[in-house]
Amino acid sequence: MPTTAILGLQWGDEGKGKLVDSISAAHDLCVRFQGGGNAGHTVYPEGGKIVLHHLPTGVLHSGCINLMAQGMVMDPFKLIEEIAEVEGRGLKLDGRLFISDRIAITTALHLTLDVSREAGAEANRVGTTKRGIGPTYADRYDRIGVRMIDLLDEGALRDALQRAVNVRDCQTAGDAPNVESMLKPLLEVGAKLRKYVADTSLLLAEAMSENKRILFEGAQGAMLDVVQGTYPYVTSSYTTAAGIPAGVGLALRVEKVIGVTKAYCTRVGDGPFPTELRDAVGDKLREAGGEYGATTGRPRRCGWIDLFALRYVCRISGITHLAMTKLDVLSGFEQLQVGVGYEGHSAPGLPADIRKFSALKPTFKSLPGWKEDISQTRKPADLPANARAYLRFVEEFVGVPVGIISVGPEREASFDTDGAPKE
Ligand code: IMP
Repeated sequence: MPTTAILGLQWGDEGKGKLVDSISAAHDLCVRFQGGGNAGHTVYPEGGKIVLHHLPTGVLHSGCINLMAQGMVMDPFKLIEEIAEVEGRGLKLDGRLFISDRIAITTALHLTLDVSREAGAEANRVGTTKRGIGPTYADRYDRIGVRMIDLLDEGALRDALQRAVNVRDCQTAGDAPNVESMLKPLLEVGAKLRKYVADTSLLLAEAMSENKRILFEGAQGAMLDVVQGTYPYVTSSYTTAAGIPAGVGLALRVEKVIGVTKAYCTRVGDGPFPTELRDAVGDKLREAGGEYGATTGRPRRCGWIDLFALRYVCRISGITHLAMTKLDVLSGFEQLQVGVGYEGHSAPGLPADIRKFSALKPTFKSLPGWKEDISQTRKPADLPANARAYLRFVEEFVGVPVGIISVGPEREASFDTDGAPKE
């Protein structure tokens, strides 16, 4: 049963979309299992750059079936726009895209709640993408959510919206969306999406019994996991491999779990980031790496790779292989730093208490840099010796082999190491 997952190991934006794009051609199914329009998976296929938010990246390969599983949240109006963009490139989605009937729907109410909270008191802010993600998940767990199946029936939708408005009423301003203003547009968009609606858990179970090659595409990163991450500065879903079974509705076990990390580290939004560089070096990484949010356009905070945190998330996510992206961005630094721990922190894990996490002061190991432009390199053996030494240090510290390296945005700029030694 060939199953693979590609997951982010940092605070998102590790370049998962690009890797899923190059790998999904060799898969029969591509499955998103958590998150929603907060994701921004940037891919550079033949027709030029495209940013996917809801759609699994496998939509870009005509032979790949795509599932949006029940652990996701979805803004149906944004999804319709994405579908139109993909189909506009001649990639038809009928019979290739299936949306879980249980997926949680983001309504105008959720968008209002997210935006108004972010505009409010600083102490309550998370720095979200303002896509309504938190309120949509909150309503699911509060049992007042709207689900895909409700968009297909006026009575069911009216009941679901009324329940949400009744319970949420006290939290929104007077101009909040009401049932009537939300009902008609949601029914209309539901009618457009009807042909894609399915029991995706069943489809997946069938595909597994037929030994199909299945790829699970993660969104965000392990450090943004709603429980294991830097709570409360996290997203609202389970972003580690532990999120896959519940997110797809099958108690499965994934064989190959690829964890994606940049060769350095970035974060958007608020929250602690121990190895952050608020100086010219951080600015250099931002400019060299084009570190501006794919969903919101916000400049990303930049810093050195944090190997201590990486080792922690590899453990909780059962990572079998690392994929290191943007190694080319590190070219031209005299010395590189890698975070290997924190002052006075001897525990193997990371603090649950956000105040303690925020106070962590990183300790670094300094490694020699390289000057060569490596963006055209296609084999590990052709990398400069110091780049290979950098990879070797990461592997040894984290205890997981680097199976994929990426040195540029093009499809062919990601290559397997084939287990080749990085001597
Ligand atoms: P939300 O997911 O929009 O609620 O935002 C919660 C936190 O997760 C914020 O810090 C966001 O910047 C961050 N976040 C959400 N999605 C992504 C992503 O795809 N990449 C990077 N950060 C993200």
